[in-house]
Amino acid sequence: MGHGGAILRVRDARPEDLDALERYSPKRSVHSDRIRDALGVNCRYLVVAWESDVLGFGLLVFAAPDIALLPCMIDLRIGPEFRSQGVGTFLIHGMEEIARARGSREMYVGVDPEGNERAYSLYLRLGYRPVQSKPYMNSWRLTSSDGEVHTGRDWHIDLRREL
Ligand SMILES: CC(C)(COP(=O)(O)OP(=O)(O)OC[C@H]1O[C@@H](n2cnc3c(N)ncnc32)[C@H](O)[C@@H]1OP(=O)(O)O)[C@@H](O)C(=O)NCCC(=O)NCCS
Repeated sequence: MGHGGAILRVRDARPEDLDALERYSPKRSVHSDRIRDALGVNCRYLVVAWESDVLGFGLLVFAAPDIALLPCMIDLRIGPEFRSQGVGTFLIHGMEEIARARGSREMYVGVDPEGNERAYSLYLRLGYRPVQSKPYMNSWRLTSSDGEVHTGRDWHIDLRREL
């Protein structure tokens, strides 16, 4: 997507993005852990950027011991002021392209279909279809490198799309 010479692009997050990423949840330590983890082969931490501005981010996971449906997109987030302009769609398409280039034939994403109706209908529009017939309770727990424990529980349904 381009406008007046400026270009919207999906690229790997780097340590210089931390100040921008910190404005969005989760915490700075979680973002920096993800940037570190993405130096390996199991995931990519991606931002969608307009020139030097970071508009949002998403984690693309290829391998993880606790995730059955892979590759998957986790914690997609576009800055509130940039939503509903196609930026999220652009990020998702960018992540799908990266997975396809790596040989993946499918992509998964999880969402709470009732608590996050907008994201759910966006995924449906982009061709994702529910794996389960009804949502299940999903609990997660993550310890960031600063020792802080992050936990959450939400209704969840997995969605799948062929690439
Ligand atoms: C879900 C999320 C990532 C989507 O990002 P987004 O940039 O708003 O997504 P898009 O703009 O591509 O599409 C969303 C909407 O914009 C509309 N849209 C897309 N392109 C558009 C354009 N060029 N002009 C106007 N509207 C457009 C879409 O039709 C869609 O309609 P909706 O408002 O009825 O949902 C974002 O809303 C977000 O960060 N939400 C909070 C975190 C979250 O819930 N993440 C998902 C966890 S599963």
